[in-house]
Amino acid sequence: MRYVRLIVVIVAAALCQRAFALLPANAIDLSKLKISEKQKSEDLCPVHLVPSKPDGPKWEYEGVKYRGSTPDAKDVFRKEPAKYVEAHKEKLWENNFIESMSRIWCPVTDQVNPGGLEEWFELDIHWESCCTFCSQTVSEEHFPAALERLKRRALESYKLSGGKYVEGAASPVEGAIRSETELAALTKDAKLGAVAASDVCNPEPAWLKGAKLEPTYNGGVATIFANRCLRCHRPGGLSPVDFTTYQSVRNWTKNMQASLVSGAMPPWPADPAVGCFSNALTITQKEKDVLFAWINAQFPRGEGAAPAAPMFSEWNIGEPDEVLTLPEYVVPKDTVAEYKELVLETSFPEDRWIVASELRAEDPFLVVEVDAGPLGTFYPGNPFETLPDGVGRLLKAGEKVSVRVRYVKEAGFEAQDETKIALKFGKADAIKQKISDSRVAQTELKIPAGAEKYEARAEYTVKSDSKLVSMLPNLRERGNRLTISAALPGGETTQLLNIPRWRYKWRMRYQLRDAIELPKGTVVTVAAVYDNSAKNTDNPDPEAEVKADATGETLECWLGLVPK
Ligand code: HEC
Repeated sequence: MRYVRLIVVIVAAALCQRAFALLPANAIDLSKLKISEKQKSEDLCPVHLVPSKPDGPKWEYEGVKYRGSTPDAKDVFRKEPAKYVEAHKEKLWENNFIESMSRIWCPVTDQVNPGGLEEWFELDIHWESCCTFCSQTVSEEHFPAALERLKRRALESYKLSGGKYVEGAASPVEGAIRSETELAALTKDAKLGAVAASDVCNPEPAWLKGAKLEPTYNGGVATIFANRCLRCHRPGGLSPVDFTTYQSVRNWTKNMQASLVSGAMPPWPADPAVGCFSNALTITQKEKDVLFAWINAQFPRGEGAAPAAPMFSEWNIGEPDEVLTLPEYVVPKDTVAEYKELVLETSFPEDRWIVASELRAEDPFLVVEVDAGPLGTFYPGNPFETLPDGVGRLLKAGEKVSVRVRYVKEAGFEAQDETKIALKFGKADAIKQKISDSRVAQTELKIPAGAEKYEARAEYTVKSDSKLVSMLPNLRERGNRLTISAALPGGETTQLLNIPRWRYKWRMRYQLRDAIELPKGTVVTVAAVYDNSAKNTDNPDPEAEVKADATGETLECWLGLVPK
């Protein structure tokens, strides 16, 4: 059967290179794929539908060999052979179908792929996928849902093929291949990935209202990219993947569908059912439908010319009023991770109100966290903040700002970075509210090596009647889940944020669309679950016990509060 397995993978690989996400799922020609016959008739007890025992009773019926899992299996079988024969055939088909399809059917995106890039062992099944995003999106919850989908497909293909492994027959997986609409429905059922933030919180933007978007690059796709993706996908943007021209987009279409279906792109890890955020990165179903139609049609360019790509200024916050540079610091040769307190001496002759700020590290792999007090707190992947109208951070005249930087690198060489912070100032009379950032943190973490579910929490009691405008939580690679809730003095508890699958890469600032009143005495709880096992693909070292320090983990959150 290794032979069959190999053919399956090679054919799928060949198909996948070209076809994965390029063709509608129902157009992929799987007629050459053959499902495994790894489990033989006699390996499965026809009465109990579980693996038969090596010393179980053996018998033959209508030319087929059987073996039981209990001593009486043969006698039970003989009483109603037709019934057991049928159930056995179907279960055998299902098992073998799952055995082969789990290797070429991505559990996250629900798509055919050649496997081989990622593998998981879940539910006693060996899963494989080639989609680079899956390793970022996949969580334990995907597998039961994926198994259910494979079972449904097994049944459909069984009905179609009559359960015959006939060489050269029409595809044994026919019926497993679904149309795009069905795929979308399945994806919704299974609550896959991070769903795009709901349309309730982020209604159709003005540019989209009444827009006639065609599924061609020039006719609609470029407009969607401009509004939803180019902010990161452009030269100098957060991602090296450039979507500013038709040609450059074509280099990156392989994972387009998968990343949209799984919700990996645009990146926004918050559960859409909890809270409305003004800075949510979203895309509506309507736009996705245009993109899927374009993908399915193999990326037509369309008539005419593409709309001009929007101009982006050097900084996300727009033209800054001031750019400050952090003091020079050389990270010593043998250091692999450290917190360093630097002092940034500002020299403004009078108080300034900061309304937007942005960090730029030359090397975002070296400078991984920067807490710069009134200048802001930043992570790569989320390097800027624009405060709501009328809200400002106060920077005192001539203030010496203490900045805490976390550096991470390999041992063996010194490293240095020039990190800049760009600032935009507001007029004092336009600022109605001063924001203060309250840090909620748990310093007593002790995550055992290999622990799959380590829970920790941190609490903060609100000191005076306030309004919450933003939350900036931070966990590192071992973070798995995070929730923030508020227990109001009256006894009521509100959920403020839910991140079902923590992504170290996407440590976002969650700016509330409507500020939430938190009366004095409210207790805000930040609860996190960590996965320090080898199952967590982000985990740098599952063998290590981890504490809350520069090299280890963290549980912290900045609450942006303004007075009520
Ligand atoms: C906040 C920034 C951001 C936004 C907005 C964003 N992306 Fe991305 N995207 C990234 C980054 C960063 C990567 C690199 C992936 C990585 O490092 O994991 C990426 C990777 C991708 C890839 C994978 C390329 C490959 O084959 O490896 C695709 C496809 C993609 N994005 C599509 C989109 C689309 C489509 C949109 C808009 C609907 C979008 N992205 C919006 C930041 C963003």
